[in-house]
Amino acid sequence: MIAVRNGSGRRARLAALGAHVPARVLTNADLEKMVDTTDEWILSRTGIRERRIAEPDESTADLAVKAAEDILRNAGITAEEIDVLIVPTATPEYLFPSTAAVVQGRIGATNAAAFDLLAACSGFVYGLAQACALVESGLARNVMVIGAETLTRIADFTDRTTCVLFGDGAAGALVTTGEPETTTGFLGFELGTDGNGGKDLLLPVGGSRNPPNRPFAPEDAFLKMNGREVFKFATRVIADSTTRLLEALELSAQDIDLFVPHQANTRIIDHAVEKLGIDPSKVVVNVDRFGNTSSASVPLALTEARNEGRLKAGDLLLLIAFGGGLTWGSTVVRYEPGPVTA
Ligand code: ACO
Repeated sequence: MIAVRNGSGRRARLAALGAHVPARVLTNADLEKMVDTTDEWILSRTGIRERRIAEPDESTADLAVKAAEDILRNAGITAEEIDVLIVPTATPEYLFPSTAAVVQGRIGATNAAAFDLLAACSGFVYGLAQACALVESGLARNVMVIGAETLTRIADFTDRTTCVLFGDGAAGALVTTGEPETTTGFLGFELGTDGNGGKDLLLPVGGSRNPPNRPFAPEDAFLKMNGREVFKFATRVIADSTTRLLEALELSAQDIDLFVPHQANTRIIDHAVEKLGIDPSKVVVNVDRFGNTSSASVPLALTEARNEGRLKAGDLLLLIAFGGGLTWGSTVVRYEPGPVTA
């Protein structure tokens, strides 16, 4: 689907950001001791140097709670002022209750409806679309979206083709009401799915197809990925989705202040930057330090850019994510921090 602003009515704005990553660092040198790989291979094929890994007693909700507290601090509101809490995640606390419900209880968001959203690495952009729709329809004022993942829990640390890619973390944003009838806020979304490609990136065990209370092959409890197919898909959609969206908005790559792509692989990002003709100085890359954190990846990169002074109020952002489903999603949005009201 593609949706662009019609220029009137209520507006939602991206008002605050926040993140939290586990303290423990897993370097490529550490992985060299675990599987048959080298720092040189990982770096040249993926751009990843290190990633964060949750402690055995640290869960997705633990990371999400800390990210939520960071977003609240940044927004200058209390948890009671959140109307809806959405947690995009592919590695939830449990199948149910939702991770969002666990986080809602722990942060004391007593007035919030809470639910998880499963669109794998595209989850944050899908979540922003939900948040935008809730605010612009008038159903909610303050919507928090937190991408939160512990992918190292489902990474097979005997499989060198996947375990080197993923990391843990949580990050998100607060979407709230903006000034009506201006050229601010979310200018448009382009979201899509190719369900026939779902087999190329999946966790076989845990759902109703292969419930965990029936016998299963131990390796099926880990993430499976057809890396080459996902790579081809990613390089195609990252350019196609953003091009379609920019064309629909009658914008060019030069109009964008900051390009924040899903942090899966620098080769995929470089391909998109070249194809779109984006000035490399406008591209946010932190996959070297965090690996692929799935739904946390785009907001983590955004939060880092803000912390480093690269993201400024009024900047026009192009966000694009892709992943399991297969899914993808892009949006063009202006970053508009500022007082948030209940
Ligand atoms: N160390 C050393 N050698 C390795 C490693 C490793 N960690 N992993 C694979 N190899 C070997 C392979 O076995 C293969 O050897 P062979 O030629 O003897 O068979 C060789 O390296 C090349 O393997 P390829 O799979 O062709 O390597 P490629 O250049 O495609 O890179 C990668 C693999 C990095 C996984 C790439 O395909 C990729 O990035 N795919 C996309 C992944 C992605 O973006 N996922 C995003 C979504 S994730 C989500 O939604 C949760």
